[in-house]
Amino acid sequence: MSQRTSVIAGNWKMNKTTSDARIYVEELIGLVAGKEGVEIILCPPFTCLAEVNAMLEGTDVRVSAQNMHFEELGAYTGEISAGMLTDIGVTDVILGHSERREHFCEDDESLAKKVPAAIDAGIRPILCVGESDEEREAGSTETKLERQLTQDLAGISGGQLAGIIVAYEPIWAIGTGKTATPQIAQEACAFIRKTLAGEFTPAAAAQVRILYGGSVKPGNITELMVEEDIDGALVGGACLTASDFARIVDFGR
Ligand code: 13P
Repeated sequence: MSQRTSVIAGNWKMNKTTSDARIYVEELIGLVAGKEGVEIILCPPFTCLAEVNAMLEGTDVRVSAQNMHFEELGAYTGEISAGMLTDIGVTDVILGHSERREHFCEDDESLAKKVPAAIDAGIRPILCVGESDEEREAGSTETKLERQLTQDLAGISGGQLAGIIVAYEPIWAIGTGKTATPQIAQEACAFIRKTLAGEFTPAAAAQVRILYGGSVKPGNITELMVEEDIDGALVGGACLTASDFARIVDFGR
């Protein structure tokens, strides 16, 4: 584990109604009260963001959206802007999740606009990158990561880089129960940091929190968190139960 403050983020994806969210957040607040040294982020669907944020007032738990549009306003039916998110107290936004890249035509060109748009609005991006099974088999993991990082972050400065979060989420590990080994995850996260150091500055890259995501559970978080370049986790399935998520926040203890 590094000197950087750890981050545990729970991506609810398309799960939970507002009433489910109320029950969950009430339970979670009790379970994580007083936790220090770890930043906790909840990423509910748009419909629950305002309610979850209101319930978390007075706690250190942050609230993140799962996507946003890069324009401030306009004729973009079905989309949400950064300003709409800050208006309801959202502090973070997941950008470039592989499910959005795969199912909703999210591309590096739009991410290159979304990342600076979020930062300009005062929202911290959690940029997701990662390779597919085929890309890993073909030995092109690093090429893929490098391309995503350089293109998606093309619009920001070294100073801005230090404040963002990057999540390494190998597509083959998402929702499959096939967690990357700590060694594989560490190698990829170290490569991400090295790439950022080259593209920006080593000092800025040293400050960026890099999370691992893909079948993280209470039973495997401890071994991932000991790795030097893994600063936390972006959790999907296992975050949907408040008690499991709280155990992950405790790094499995
Ligand atoms: P799982 O933890 O369900 O594999 O999902 C990971 C993920 O996609 C988080 O964004």
